[in-house]
Amino acid sequence: MATERRDQGPSTETSSSEYRDEEYEAHLERSRAVWDRWSDRYGMSERDFEPIREAAIDRLALEPGDRVLEVGCGPGVNFEPVRREIGAEGELVAVDYSPGMIANARDRIDARGWENVRVRRADATTVEFEEPFDAALASLSLSVMPDVRRTVEHIYRSIGPGARLGVVDVRPAPSGPVRVLNPLIRRFFRWYANWNPDGDVPGSLEAVFDDCEIVDTHFAGTAYTAICTKRDGD
Ligand SMILES: C[S@@+](CC[C@H](N)C(=O)[O-])C[C@H]1O[C@@H](n2cnc3c(N)ncnc32)[C@H](O)[C@@H]1O
Repeated sequence: MATERRDQGPSTETSSSEYRDEEYEAHLERSRAVWDRWSDRYGMSERDFEPIREAAIDRLALEPGDRVLEVGCGPGVNFEPVRREIGAEGELVAVDYSPGMIANARDRIDARGWENVRVRRADATTVEFEEPFDAALASLSLSVMPDVRRTVEHIYRSIGPGARLGVVDVRPAPSGPVRVLNPLIRRFFRWYANWNPDGDVPGSLEAVFDDCEIVDTHFAGTAYTAICTKRDGD
């Protein structure tokens, strides 16, 4: 990915909260249904991606006291590793659209007695926060958003200058013989996750962030980790 920004940052012509159309709403509602359905059976995905998520969190170089935003937190699989880095004095604010996932995330928080981890049921593309975050994390969530570019723009606006966004996500195989399986991979992603076929996560990250790099790939390139940094002074 290029290290230079292609545009002048997120568009301000139409605010995210004004962006509503039937396709967007239909995608959001499908996501709610799909992820509510999976909310009680998330163990396999949790285990398979655990080392990848943890490596992405390491790359955020979090510090004690940091405020972190998590986008599409699911049942809270990242809470423990993030909290380990930010300590009891930091704060993790996690957003998810599925009530079932939010209930599981709350159970996890209550069971651990974490007072500095908060969850909100909201659309990550429009939810507003009072203060900018020191870092953000989106693992396996950006590619299921109804409008990927707008979600990335919204995250950009929600973090402070110099802050990093860590992304773990999936995509059809970008190269190599596995590409013959891409039609099947796309269908599986859509069925399993309500993956957005029109969304371009790497392209959106590159367009919106000043500095963005795919730092790791996994499973024949069908999964990747990207780290993006917001320019100081923005
Ligand atoms: C594959 S799960 C990822 C969960 C977790 N981050 C992980 O790494 O396992 C995708 C999550 O994104 C959430 N999601 C989908 N659309 C969303 C939206 N518009 N706003 C917030 N969360 C959303 C789903 O409810 C689901 O919990």
